[in-house]
Amino acid sequence: MSQKLRLEGKTALITGAARGIGFSFAEAYVREGARVAIADINIERARTAASGLGESCIAVEMDVTDQASIDSGVASAINGLGKIDILVNNAALFSAAPLAEITRADYDKLFSVNVSGTLFTMQAVAKHMIERGQGGKIINMASQAGRRGEPLVAVYCATKAAVISLTQSAGLNLIAHGINVNAIAPGVVDGEHWDGVDAFFAKYENKAPGQKKKEVGESVPFGRMGTAEDLTGMAIFLATDEADYIVSQCFNVDGGQWMS
Ligand SMILES: NC(=O)c1ccc[n+]([C@@H]2O[C@H](COP(=O)([O-])OP(=O)(O)OC[C@H]3O[C@@H](n4cnc5c(N)ncnc54)[C@H](O)[C@@H]3O)[C@@H](O)[C@H]2O)c1
Repeated sequence: MSQKLRLEGKTALITGAARGIGFSFAEAYVREGARVAIADINIERARTAASGLGESCIAVEMDVTDQASIDSGVASAINGLGKIDILVNNAALFSAAPLAEITRADYDKLFSVNVSGTLFTMQAVAKHMIERGQGGKIINMASQAGRRGEPLVAVYCATKAAVISLTQSAGLNLIAHGINVNAIAPGVVDGEHWDGVDAFFAKYENKAPGQKKKEVGESVPFGRMGTAEDLTGMAIFLATDEADYIVSQCFNVDGGQWMS
């Protein structure tokens, strides 16, 4: 007997899904029977990603720092998919610098993508979900960086702490409409994003390229860095009805890095 797909009939909007973790989530959701809108500021890459996943996917241009772009991106996703049952707020930027070198421009940019981007995309999709009256699932991408500060990563850590807090408040507010808001806090996940992180540490900690990556991988209790695929189980579960009673939580999927 064939097993029922866990997201059959569901539709999802995933921001920043043209590559990395967001793309793996799109792949996993399609595997489970969902149709997915891959939303990204890089529309060319989003189109390539969507066409690689076949007819279940559409590409949507969205800059989460721009309200008009959020509104038109959400409208395009609703138009293309008919509705949005699941939102994954995944788009984010990373930066690192000693405290004395942090610039206002960098602070504004990171808060604008990681925090306001998450809040106002959540708001736009929540309005649609409330109007439909059939509930929904919202998953915000936090990080172990949101659990504690790091000497060279003040701004990014603060944005991810804010994502955890927004998840708590939004979850408490939206559960009255049957909308579950929860978050995932990954540890260190290999991919293009971490190539950039490694380059920051090469500069500020005077390390050879690749050295920081090797060190962080070895320091994970599981014994290696995570992969995007390591996170898909939690991303699927939180999008299913099995997670209906889970409200405002942030789940560590990090090989044992953080306990809370
Ligand atoms: N990779 C890790 O080690 C790690 C660890 C913890 C948390 N996370 C979080 O997981 C999520 C995904 O990380 P990743 O490693 O796949 O990142 P990534 O850098 O590989 O992908 C981010 C995507 O977001 C898109 N994007 C950037 N700015 C945007 C904007 N203004 N509007 C719309 N899209 C935009 C980019 O084009 C890119 O496709 C992020 O929220 C990140 O903070 C990652």
